[in-house]
Amino acid sequence: RFAPVILAGGSGTRFWPRSRRARAKQVLALDGEQTMIQQTLTRLLPLANPADVWVVTNSLLDKTIAEQLPNVLSEHILSEPAARNTAPACALTAFLLFNSAPDTVLGVFPSDHVVENGKRFAQVLQAGIEIAADGENIVVLGVPPTRPETGYGYIEQGDVVAEADSASGGVPIKIARVKRFREKPDRHTAERFLAAGNFAWNGGIFLWSARTLVYAIREHSPEMAPILQEIAAAYGTPNFARVFAEQYPKCENISIDYAVLERRSAKGEHKSGIYCLPADFGWNDLGSWASLHEHLGEAEADNVLDGATTGIVAIESSGNYVYAPGKMVALLGVDDLVVVETPDALLITTRDRSQDVSKVVRALHDSD
Ligand code: GDD
Ligand code: MG
Repeated sequence: RFAPVILAGGSGTRFWPRSRRARAKQVLALDGEQTMIQQTLTRLLPLANPADVWVVTNSLLDKTIAEQLPNVLSEHILSEPAARNTAPACALTAFLLFNSAPDTVLGVFPSDHVVENGKRFAQVLQAGIEIAADGENIVVLGVPPTRPETGYGYIEQGDVVAEADSASGGVPIKIARVKRFREKPDRHTAERFLAAGNFAWNGGIFLWSARTLVYAIREHSPEMAPILQEIAAAYGTPNFARVFAEQYPKCENISIDYAVLERRSAKGEHKSGIYCLPADFGWNDLGSWASLHEHLGEAEADNVLDGATTGIVAIESSGNYVYAPGKMVALLGVDDLVVVETPDALLITTRDRSQDVSKVVRALHDSD
């Protein structure tokens, strides 16, 4: 049995002003008709029954998510009383399922990624689910790196142990052992990893059985285990909301990458039981306006006009991203700008600086 866990608790502040606290990017349709979280669920439907899907989110987003995902059971939409990063968010469902169905393979899925090739996604995931169902294996997905990004985790790949045939006769799927997992290295280290050639970016998708993750938490983040166990014991009882609110904030605020992957990988290639499959399905972590520009445009020099803008005049201008619904837009002699207009806010920056948009949000909060 396969149970996807969709994480939707991040703030997505880099998409200000389209994203706001109660309108995080997961519930926005940044590309296409469906919102990001709807796209996430749609791509999982060939692999899982909607009744087995879980969503871990917060009280600002839970109602919107319940509306957008009517097929997900309301008791499977867990609303965290406080954000504690991804380790507690991932581990919670493992503890909930541990007593009744420890062999369930859980898959962690961020709700803010774009996947170009849904068919390939399902093939790779299917192969990964089979590996994760075996013993205490952990499966991660590796993205070929194209720049020394410091905002990602890196997977050092070891021996290729097997090639899974993708069910419908597609490209074989290489399964490699993981030598070492390194979360968010500094710039210099990231450059070294890129040059070495056997490193992949961590795609942020993980597969493990409920048992494997509970054991891993007990081993690598032991103080978190009794807290989550107590919450799990209250699930389905009238006390749940109270116990969840009292206990969950006691969990350490730490990402799953540091709490489990880095620590487990330190056991070495042959003992950690971590395997890497290729995320060769057109993975894109839509993390900023610049990555949306890259995703929507054909070439870097394209001006991308988003949000049903009524028309554009571009003279000697290239590489701009403009979101201005209902407006006629004119660009004259400007390059690489990001301009985003909403009814009550206007952002003007450059593509290079779009990682820093979260600074704007912080500054606005400080002046509240
Ligand atoms: N429920 C919940 N609660 N979800 C959360 C929380 C939380 O406290 N914090 C983050 N999330 C969700 C985010 O909404 C996102 O969908 C996912 O978990 C990953 O969190 P990010 O905050 O976006 O992580 P990151 O981008 O710094 O790094 C992770 O993703 C990279 C790839 O996109 C790591 O796994 C990296 O190793 C990886 O390369
Ligand atoms: Mg992210």
